Order: sequence, then C-alpha cells, then structure tokens
Amino acid sequence: MKDQVDKLLDDAIEGKSLFKNREILHSSHIPKNILHRDEEQKKVMQSLSPLTKKSRPSNLLIYGKPGTGKTLIVKDILTRIQDHPKLKSFPIKIIFSNAKEEATPSGLLVSLGRGLGLETEEQLPSTGLSIGSIFKKLIDVVKNNSFNTIFVIDEIDHLTKIKSTEDKDVLYQLTRANTRTGKGFLSIIGISNTLDFKEKLDPRVVSSLNVEEIIFEPYQQHQIQGILKDRVKDAFADGIVEESAINLCSAMASQENGDARRAIDLLRVAGEIAERAGVEKITDEHVRIASSKMEEDKDSTTLKSLPLHQKLLVLAVARSNGSSIGEIYQGYRDICKSLRKQELTLRRTTQMLSELDETHTLITGKIIYQGIHGRSKKYNTTIPIEIIKKTFKDEFTLQDLL
Ligand SMILES: Nc1ncnc2c1ncn2[C@@H]1O[C@H](COP(=O)(O)OP(=O)(O)OP(=O)(O)O)[C@@H](O)[C@H]1O
Ligand SMILES: [Mg+2]
Repeated sequence: MKDQVDKLLDDAIEGKSLFKNREILHSSHIPKNILHRDEEQKKVMQSLSPLTKKSRPSNLLIYGKPGTGKTLIVKDILTRIQDHPKLKSFPIKIIFSNAKEEATPSGLLVSLGRGLGLETEEQLPSTGLSIGSIFKKLIDVVKNNSFNTIFVIDEIDHLTKIKSTEDKDVLYQLTRANTRTGKGFLSIIGISNTLDFKEKLDPRVVSSLNVEEIIFEPYQQHQIQGILKDRVKDAFADGIVEESAINLCSAMASQENGDARRAIDLLRVAGEIAERAGVEKITDEHVRIASSKMEEDKDSTTLKSLPLHQKLLVLAVARSNGSSIGEIYQGYRDICKSLRKQELTLRRTTQMLSELDETHTLITGKIIYQGIHGRSKKYNTTIPIEIIKKTFKDEFTLQDLL
C-alpha cells in the first residue's frame, strides 16, 4: 500500500513544473546578457584600463544601492580582461572576497593570502597572527612572485563596523600596499552599497585610499522590465508568465530602490507559489502574494534573531503603539515582571529603541511637539501585530504574553 509520502512523492515527480530552468532565477546565476549598464561598464573599464597596458590601476571604489549590478559587472569585466588572448603575457591575479562573510578583518587578509597561494596553515595560519605580520607575508608573496594582484572586497562597508583599533588598520594597510611593493602590485576594488561609506572611515584611511569612485545608479522601471524579460525567456516555457506579472515585479522593484535582485526574486517566488497552487500561469496575484510573503519572511527573520530584551521591547511597543519612551518602559517592566526577568535600565532600553529603529527598522520613532510641554519621541511598530504574534508564538518564553 502506498502511504501519504509515497503519494506526495508521486505527485511531485509527475507534476508539471512551471519552470524550464529554475537556476536562471537564482541570485548566483550569471546572466548571458548584461543590460542597461553601458555607462557603468564604460567607467569601470576606463578605470581598469591600465591593466590592458600592463600597468597598475588605481584603487577603485564602487557605490550603489543593492541590486544595481555592481558585483555582476566587476566580475564580468575583470574575468574578461583576465581571459583576453592579447593579455595572456600579463597574468593578473584576481581575488574576490566579501567583507560580510569574513568574521574578522584578519579573516579577510587570510582569504587574500589563500588566493595568493598561501594555501596551508603552515604557510599562513588562519588565527593567531597580528594584522601586521599577516600583511607582511602577503606583500612578500606579491613582491617575490611579481604578482599583478587585484583584490576585490565586496560589501566593504562592513569594515567600518569594526570596533577594535588594530583591526581598523586593515584598510589603511591595504591601501598603502602599493607604495610598498617593488615588482608586481596590489590594487583594491571596494564595493559598497552604502553611499556614506567613506564618511565613516578614519581620515587617515581616506587620504591613503587615493581612489577613483564610480556610482551605480538605481535601475529605472523599464530597465528592470528588460532584465526580467530576458530571464523569463530561459527560465519559463513560453506564455507561462503574464506580461502584467512582469510589469508588476518591475514596478515593485523600482519603487524599492531600483533593485534588480528584488525583481528576480519576486518572480521566482511568484512562480513557486503558482506552481504549488497547480495553475498554469503566473499572474499579478501570485506576484502580490510573493511580495507579502517575502516581506513577512524578512521581518520574522529579523525578529527571531533579536536578543530577548529587544524582543520584549518590540512587544512593549506593539502593545502601546504611539507611546512615549516612558510609557514603553513601563510596559516593558510589566512584561519583565510577568516573565520573572530582571529588567534593563531606562538608559539601556532607550539605546535599544534607537537600534530597533535605525538598524532593524522594526519600529519607527517620531518627535512630537507638545506646545509648552516640549517635545517627546513616540514609537510605533512598522510591522503588523499579526506577524509579531505569529513569529513569537514559537517562543516558549513569550507565548503567555500574546
Ligand atoms: N544589468 C543587468 N542585467 C542582467 N542582470 C542583472 C543586471 N544587473 C543586475 N542583475 C542581476 O540582479 C542581481 C543583483 O545584481 P548584483 O549582485 O550585481 O547587485 P549588487 O549591486 O552587487 O547588489 P548588492 O549591493 O546587494 O551586493 C543578480 O542576480 C544579477 O545577475
Ligand atoms: Mg553585490
């Protein structure tokens, strides 16, 4: 006898997929065509053009909102320079790293070292060495082998979040690398999705950076539409995606900073929703459901990752939307009492409220002027109470409060 899982499995195997090739809508997929980035491609190419004359390019900083094609274009241009038949006599070492994925700045340097061929722990231990001594090893390798090195640091803005002074030196050291190598070179390409990245740096680092800067503008709606249509051709069979669904994805993504990734994700999730519903076309409605699902998932993930007292504060704000810090603090203390938890100080909770507002954007504070009573800050949650409830439902300690 077939049991329930057997039947589900049969259905899944027999069931038709709406996708022709799902991979094409995955964020790591490299598209065949890069559209609507002519200006940006030209500027990046110009900045890297010394490579084509066998010399060292300046350091380069690329800024732009998320999903504007920064990573895609830098990778594309660098690999094409590297692979060009006429440049084979000038080998270039290109090393990609992502500052967000490295736990520490020395981790970042170690990944550079691995790319330069210091592959074993004996050649370069991953822990225990100071930034200065890792750095010396790297420069030696570059010099001794005359390596023409381009080190790409994606999401470089994460380096500004580092607190320790020794670690802060990483960028300074890296930017000065060029003055220290004799043969070969080490140039940096930094990619940031915050525009004020440089303002957050130490002035000493800024002056040593000596960089060219390129800004990637957000995509406009019709441009996102073009990018989507190009993917749809290969990702889905003909006629599966309604034109209006593509338009809606583009409209939503262009409202949200002109983010191409967002548009592609929306379409993929809409496709999955339609597929699960067993229908044959992807419509506006699926895109709308996809959008609210993605929003919900994002909020829940952020909520779940908060430390306990921040969660309690979100609850306190949600329970008394539009309240002042004093009122929220009162509510928070009541919650602590009912959970038998030691409450934090008013000062600490005030700081936490700002973090929840500025970093996590789960709540939003507004200054309200109250005539002779002066002014006070009032907080509201930015997400629906149902989502807060749904998320916290699984948390044993918070269940009783909902
Ligand atoms: N011009 C384009 N043509 C085709 N696909 C594009 C284009 N621009 C971006 N994409 C696609 O959109 C997604 C996001 O692009 P990319 O990763 O380059 O953005 P980013 O600017 O590096 O964003 P972030 O700052 O978040 O890292 C990728 O899947 C990429 O393939
Ligand atoms: Mg990127």
